Amino acid sequence: MEGIAVDFAFTEEQLMIQDAARRIAREKIAPSAAHHDHTGEFPRENMRLLGESGLMGVEVPVEYGGAGMDPIAYVLAMIEVAAADAAHATIMSVNNSLFCNAILQHGGEAQKQTQLRAIAEGHEIGAFALTEPQSGSDATAMRCRAVQQADGGYVINGKKSWITSGPVARHVLLFALTEPEQGARGVTAFLIDAEREGYRRGKAEPKLGIRASATCEIEFDGYHARADEVLGEPGQGFRIAMGVLDAGRIGIASQAVGIARAAYEASVDYVKERKAFGQAIGSFQMIQAKIADMKCRLDAVQLLTLRAAWQKGQGARFTTEASVAKLSASEAAMWIAHQAVQIHAGMGYSKEMPVERYFRDAKITEIYEGTSEIQRLVIARQETGLR
Ligand code: CAA
Repeated sequence: MEGIAVDFAFTEEQLMIQDAARRIAREKIAPSAAHHDHTGEFPRENMRLLGESGLMGVEVPVEYGGAGMDPIAYVLAMIEVAAADAAHATIMSVNNSLFCNAILQHGGEAQKQTQLRAIAEGHEIGAFALTEPQSGSDATAMRCRAVQQADGGYVINGKKSWITSGPVARHVLLFALTEPEQGARGVTAFLIDAEREGYRRGKAEPKLGIRASATCEIEFDGYHARADEVLGEPGQGFRIAMGVLDAGRIGIASQAVGIARAAYEASVDYVKERKAFGQAIGSFQMIQAKIADMKCRLDAVQLLTLRAAWQKGQGARFTTEASVAKLSASEAAMWIAHQAVQIHAGMGYSKEMPVERYFRDAKITEIYEGTSEIQRLVIARQETGLR
C-alpha cells in the first residue's frame, strides 16, 4: 500500500475496451439476460461476440489471440458485462483470470499457441478443475490422482465438482495429485482435452443464480495425459492454482462490482419514479439514506478492485489486495442487492424486474474462488505472518 501513485484517469486503451464491453453488454447481453436466467441456456452466441472483441483474453498478448490490455482494462470490461448479466461474467472470468492467466504465466510456447489461443480468440471455452466433492476450501485434500507411466505421460482417475463451464468446455485446467505423500507439493497441473477418451461430464447443477453459466461434475476414468500436457513443472500445481486464484479473485470482485452497480442504478431510477403518499419515494429520508449508503459502498469496492488490478499490473504480488477486493466487493454486492430488493418492495420480489436476479446472482460471489471466510483467512495470514 505504501507509495501507491493515485491517478484516476483511465488510458485511451482502457476506455476503448470498456466501451467495447459496454456495447455488447447493453445491445446483446442485457436484452437476453432474463431469458438466459429463466431457461439456463448457455449463451454461446454472446460468448462468440465477446471473443471476437478480445474480451475472452483481455490480458493475453495480441500474438496469442488476445487484446493485449492490462488488468485495469480487464476489470473495466468485467464490470460492464456483469452489470448486464452476472452469468456471462462468470464464464468470461474463468476464461480470462483462471485459464488464460495460468497458461500465460506457466505455459510453454506450444501451449500458448494452441490452448491459450483457442480460448483467447473465443473459439473454445475453458474450465478450471480444482474443487472435489470432499475438498472445497481445503483444496489440498484433493483425491484426483495422476500416475506417471513409463513413457512420461500420466493416467488420471478421479472426480472434480462445481466446474464452471464444465458442460461446454473443450480445454480444462486440472489439478491432480502426482505425489500424494508430498501434500501441496505433490499436486501437478494438466491441460486436459475434454474430447479425449476417459473424460466424462456429469449432470448439470441446478443453481440459485448465475443460471446461464453451466456447472457440472467431471470425471476422469483412465484418462491419458501426455507429458507435454503438464502445465509448469510437476509438483508445482498447488502454487499455480493459488497464484491463478489471486487473479481470479480480481475477476470475481469485478463481477460483484458490476452486479452492485446494476442493483444501485435500478434503485436510483425506481425511487425517482415510484410514488407513495403523494411523492416520489426518493424524497423520503429513509430511502435517501439507503441510496447514499449504497453509493458509498459501491464506490469504495470499485476503487479496491481497481487497486488490486493496478498492483497486478505492476508485476508485484497482489494476494492481499485481491482478497481484500473480493471479500469487500462480494459482501457489498450482496448488501446492495438486498437494499435494492427492499427499495423495490413487491416489484423487487417479482421476476418482472431484474433486481431479484441481482440478489440471487450476488450470493455466489461470496462463495466461489474462495469463500468470504477463506478471504479473511488469506488476508489475516498475509498481514500477521501467522498461520
Ligand atoms: N500464490 C502463490 N503461492 C501460494 C499462494 C499464492 N497466493 N498461496 C499459497 N501458496 C503456496 C504456499 O506458499 C505453499 O507453498 P510451499 O508448499 O512451497 O510452501 C503452498 O501454496 C501451500 O500453501 P498453504 O500451506 O498456505 O496451503 P493451505 O492448505 O493452508 O491452504 C488456502 C491455503 C488459502 C486455504 C487455500 O487452500 C485456498 O485458497 N482455498 C480456497 C480454494 C478456492 O478458492 N477454491 C476455489 C475453487 S475454483 C472456483 O471457484 C472457480 C470457478 O469455477 C468460478
